Amino acid sequence: STTPVTVTVTGAAGQIGYALLFRIASGAMLGPDTPVRLRLLEIPQAVKAAEGTAMELDDCAFPLLSGVDIYDSAEAAFDSVNVALLVGARPRGPGMERGDLLAANGGIFGPQGAAINKGAASDVRVLVVGNPANTNALIAASHAPDVPASRFTAMMRLDHNRALAQLAARAGVGVAAVSNVTIWGNHSAKQYPDIAHAVIGGRPAPSVIADDAWVADTFVPTVAKRGAAIIEARGASSAASAANAAIDHVRDWVLGTPEGSWTSVGLVSDGSYGVPEGLISGFPCVSRDGQWEIVQGLSVSESAQAGIDVSVGELVEERDAVRELGLI
Ligand code: NAI
Repeated sequence: STTPVTVTVTGAAGQIGYALLFRIASGAMLGPDTPVRLRLLEIPQAVKAAEGTAMELDDCAFPLLSGVDIYDSAEAAFDSVNVALLVGARPRGPGMERGDLLAANGGIFGPQGAAINKGAASDVRVLVVGNPANTNALIAASHAPDVPASRFTAMMRLDHNRALAQLAARAGVGVAAVSNVTIWGNHSAKQYPDIAHAVIGGRPAPSVIADDAWVADTFVPTVAKRGAAIIEARGASSAASAANAAIDHVRDWVLGTPEGSWTSVGLVSDGSYGVPEGLISGFPCVSRDGQWEIVQGLSVSESAQAGIDVSVGELVEERDAVRELGLI
């Protein structure tokens, strides 16, 4: 189609924004035939920096980029949006309690959800990247009663891609040979990365790896703590890999997941796998006809269910805390 898709990116002047916008404008997210109109939302102090990024977007002369606009108002930025990438969030400051963090983010994601409810296009798809991503997505969704809850997703794809890379390295194969990993639960250090149904080179991953101790003691913590390892090494948090994961998430959502393989998505629970209905949890998902569906009927071992339950327990605590604060 030649009608441009309107993509709003919040936190556009941040480091993920800088790694994300150019790839969206190049066609990496929506494909080589879809023009995009970018809307950048920032807080007033960062609008000038966003203007600098917009100048660079102009200077790339991307054939698919039909315009860039900058806003410091959520209502304007989300008017007729088709794809909303909610990246900007309040980071945890020194001495900040969890309640303070959740309250500060509620003040961002509540109004943004309301603005999406008011003005977004009827096909709007929302990906929340800003942390705590699952609970921020829950807050935004709860302020958008007219938008189906399944349109509000949280990003588990960076964890998913990290898991693919770790498995490929261990097995000595290319990442393209690895599929059907699942990141269950919360995007946090308590996530549960699961290889029980993963496939490596057409064979079951558990028998290819054949080392349960490595999976439990090395693979799971490496994936779950990778964000901290990147900060330690780079002196800054994951940015290009986070932007890449956001691109992968939206591309699969819009264009479909490859036949026979699934990915990990923070999606509203329908009660599957013992996850309380309404929580936004990591699940194995496929995208069909532009909609995410939770892969059903996978066998879950007792130890896997215990790992899922721990992570989901953290989501329940976060939900109860934001409920207590009146944020949902
Ligand atoms: P950053 O600090 O470089 O950029 C954040 C930007 O958001 C800043 O430019 C800030 O001005 C803007 N911002 C703050 N409040 C805003 C609001 N109300 N409206 C619009 N913009 C607002 O941070 P970075 O590295 O780009 O990360 C962004 C978020 O992504 C963080 O919350 C981070 O924890 C999260 N993250 C999530 C990952 C995931 O896998 N889900 C992976 C990596 C990062």
